[in-house]
Amino acid sequence: MKFFVDTADLKEIEEAASWGALAGVTTNPSLYAKIGGKLEDFDGHMKKICDIVGPDCPVSAESVAMTRDEMIADGERLAAIAPNIVVKLPTTVEGLAACRALAEKGIRCNMTLCFSVPQALLAARAGARYISPFIGRFDDISQDGLAEVENIVTAIGNYDFTEHAPNGEQVEIIAASVRSANHVTQCALMGADIATVPFGVIKKMIQHPLTDRGLESFMKDWQKVLNA
Ligand code: G3P
Repeated sequence: MKFFVDTADLKEIEEAASWGALAGVTTNPSLYAKIGGKLEDFDGHMKKICDIVGPDCPVSAESVAMTRDEMIADGERLAAIAPNIVVKLPTTVEGLAACRALAEKGIRCNMTLCFSVPQALLAARAGARYISPFIGRFDDISQDGLAEVENIVTAIGNYDFTEHAPNGEQVEIIAASVRSANHVTQCALMGADIATVPFGVIKKMIQHPLTDRGLESFMKDWQKVLNA
């Protein structure tokens, strides 16, 4: 399973990248607004993220267009920022059409705001490189987000979509809208390819009280060795 960090904050991305376990970054308009991002700085900001994580880490930059033609134009502009940019598009009719057009130009797309198996199947057929089903937003409306994502992982895993994808790459599922370390555990158990995780949750993933307690006791005993 791969981990992406779900943030547009450069400091968080730098810190997460320094831990040696980061495989990518996802951003969205809300995350860019959260850091006080301005329209004129958007492309430059995405370039900075790409430079921090390096060419092997995909960085999802989202189009805010509503029509396929505008999404295609956005996608071409965004893909020109850096080779590791992935164009994030909504899982709508317009998004599907733009995904197919961009895929045929060799531009990778991450289909976001995906909430159902039929949406995911269509996105895969349209040549998506990544599909992002959301967990937390289902939980927010008292539905089982993990169960929905598990269904999507199973359905997509039942088929080979490589002939529909740019560069013949198999579509990967990014579990998104992750709100807890337990969400990550459950996503790993169901076989999700990737989890995109907010920085605060990644920090919690490494924490365990028994690790802290064990370390404290080893340090205490080592002091005895030093004093012997
Ligand atoms: O990047 C999309 C997704 O991860 C958003 O999460 O917490 O706003 O539902 P959230």
